Amino acid sequence: MTETSNAQWHDEPTDYDQAGKLPRMRPASAESPSFGSLNITAAATDPELLDLPWHVALEQWPASALAALPRGISRHIVRFAHLGGSVIAVKETSEHIARHEYHMLRKLQRLDVPCVEPVAVISGRTTQDGEELDPVLVTRHLKFSLPYRALFSQTLRRDTLTRLIDAQALLLVRLHLIGFYWGDVSLSNTLFRRDAGSFAAYLVDAETGELYPELSTGQREYDLEIARVNIAGELMDLAEGGLIEEKVDPLATSELIMDSYRRLWMELTEKESFELGERWRVSARIRRLNELGFDVEEYVIKTAANGTQIQLQPKVVDAGHHSRRLLRLTGLDAQENQARRLLNDMDAYRADNNPTLDEEFSAHLWVNEVFEPIVRAVPRELSGKLEPAEVVHEVLEHRWYMSEREDRNVPMAEAVQSYLDNELRHRRDEAEIMLTADSRTIGIDEDSEYGDN
Ligand SMILES: Nc1ncnc2c1ncn2[C@@H]1O[C@H](COP(=O)(O)OP(=O)(O)OP(=O)(O)O)[C@@H](O)[C@H]1O
Ligand SMILES: [Mg+2]
Repeated sequence: MTETSNAQWHDEPTDYDQAGKLPRMRPASAESPSFGSLNITAAATDPELLDLPWHVALEQWPASALAALPRGISRHIVRFAHLGGSVIAVKETSEHIARHEYHMLRKLQRLDVPCVEPVAVISGRTTQDGEELDPVLVTRHLKFSLPYRALFSQTLRRDTLTRLIDAQALLLVRLHLIGFYWGDVSLSNTLFRRDAGSFAAYLVDAETGELYPELSTGQREYDLEIARVNIAGELMDLAEGGLIEEKVDPLATSELIMDSYRRLWMELTEKESFELGERWRVSARIRRLNELGFDVEEYVIKTAANGTQIQLQPKVVDAGHHSRRLLRLTGLDAQENQARRLLNDMDAYRADNNPTLDEEFSAHLWVNEVFEPIVRAVPRELSGKLEPAEVVHEVLEHRWYMSEREDRNVPMAEAVQSYLDNELRHRRDEAEIMLTADSRTIGIDEDSEYGDN
């Protein structure tokens, strides 16, 4: 991507399969089965969808259909409901918005950026008295994800906040790399999952988003400015409610996103020039990108006319360097930082136990002897607290601290037991946090006076 290219606002493709376009009217087709006058457009068949009370306004859905999970603040009415074995988020909105968001989320999914999974758009809803109801967008509830207001139970610490903002910056960079202009970047429009001490951010609200072949610097900067202003507003809101550590300055903190974003963008896209003799810089750059969690799929190397200078520019970078390696070696699917953490342990395990063994085989042994025993040791009633990969990461940390404190090599079984008793048992359930004591931090009330715009 070039920093100087112009915005391509007007170059919208005419083919609906291309990025950035969406059909406003969709004919009812085989893909859109009708149920009464209901019109369902769905990505996959979820026959249970038909069992939900679509003829009732979302606000009046019976508690039996709903799942009590923490929800961020929003303009539209959003509810979580049970669908088969999973949970879905249902948002009542206009037909145009629902379809736009549905198609946008499908494209983002295909482009492999972290976002919620679209399930269906349902229109043609009427009450039993024939009164029209708004169409809905259905997305799959992202397991173990939390809106930022539910990430902390008392006050948000400055460190946590910085990590949230870094995660948000990384998400924005990834979206911009694929040409997505968000238009409404905010903490409320993002979901967070714990990722080995950091967070992984997912896009939840694509209502204002547009896909372009490429974004101009102006478009990216504009999106970044929106992020800064929204985050400042959100932090001021938290500060007013005493929900944030006192030493945190909302305005200064909101500016962190600019630095974090720009640093990452530069590292990922910048053209670098060096002398022919300094060729090692090519692999150094690639290694730095790997460290940041990116693979370089394609890069351009040019030599200058006089033949002594080299120019290097990554062209296609792909996030998920560590999670791909972990998946390849073990079949485990984890987030980037979790994967990085687990790979480190796996490498240490190989060095300690069988340094000459084939990497794949050693990885297999590690899964059997380290990863799985830890996951199996978690009693059923505690298994909803954290994702397995996060539990393993925490156990490894716990063991390390314990060994250091007690100045001995604490055996794994002992570390696991101590972790379960002293840490995991005391955590909230993050798979299905019920709205309890800290519900005041969560937008449970649709008429909440908070606005996130
Ligand atoms: N698939 C999902 N998984 C988990 N939470 C979700 C999901 N979809 C929506 N939510 C929750 O519902 C909230 C509102 O959703 P969303 O931002 O799409 O609504 P909105 O009314 O369009 O928001 P805005 O006020 O920004 O226009 C989100 O902040 C999030 O907490
Ligand atoms: Mg929103």
